[in-house]
Amino acid sequence: MKDSEELSILDVGTGNGHLLLAIYDNGYTKCRLIGTDISPVSIELSQAIAKARGISSVIFRQQDLIKEAGNEQYRLVLDKGTFDAISLTDELRDGRRLNKIYAANIHNILSDDGIFLITSCNWTKKELIARFGDFGLEYHSEIKYPTYEFGGQKGQTITSVAFVKGKKNMI
Ligand SMILES: C[S@@+](CC[C@H](N)C(=O)[O-])C[C@H]1O[C@@H](n2cnc3c(N)ncnc32)[C@H](O)[C@@H]1O
Repeated sequence: MKDSEELSILDVGTGNGHLLLAIYDNGYTKCRLIGTDISPVSIELSQAIAKARGISSVIFRQQDLIKEAGNEQYRLVLDKGTFDAISLTDELRDGRRLNKIYAANIHNILSDDGIFLITSCNWTKKELIARFGDFGLEYHSEIKYPTYEFGGQKGQTITSVAFVKGKKNMI
């Protein structure tokens, strides 16, 4: 993905904004970099870190992706640990699990040529494909990490899967 003014990257549940600031440090200075988080404290912290580093072009704003997905669409949507955090609650909204609402909202904010890259410590690749597949997102690729072997089973502690919008209608 080439850095340009047309490129927009959203980091959902940005925490302290480190992922976006690392993207900026890697030369993505022309594109739109936006970090959102439900926590106002996270947003204040991200803004303070960016300000201390003299970076004014990265936007951080408070937003609950379950409540308000907004109308804007992004070419790259990043999630590192946010779906994991949302999946920890059994809370229902309109009878639906929050992580299902989240998956539907991710589909809505992703541009037609967009990529959703999720990094999870709690969900396997297979589980992520099944959950996001239900909401119109198709497996694209994955990041390969070193694997460990225990009791004859191979595994990894972290999973990063990229999705694109599929042709199937979302639920
Ligand atoms: C495990 S932390 C990951 C933070 C960051 N992505 C990182 O890699 O360090 C999960 C983040 O998701 C945020 N979060 C939880 N629910 C959210 C929601 N509904 N909308 C937006 N952010 C949310 C939390 O406030 C928290 O900052």
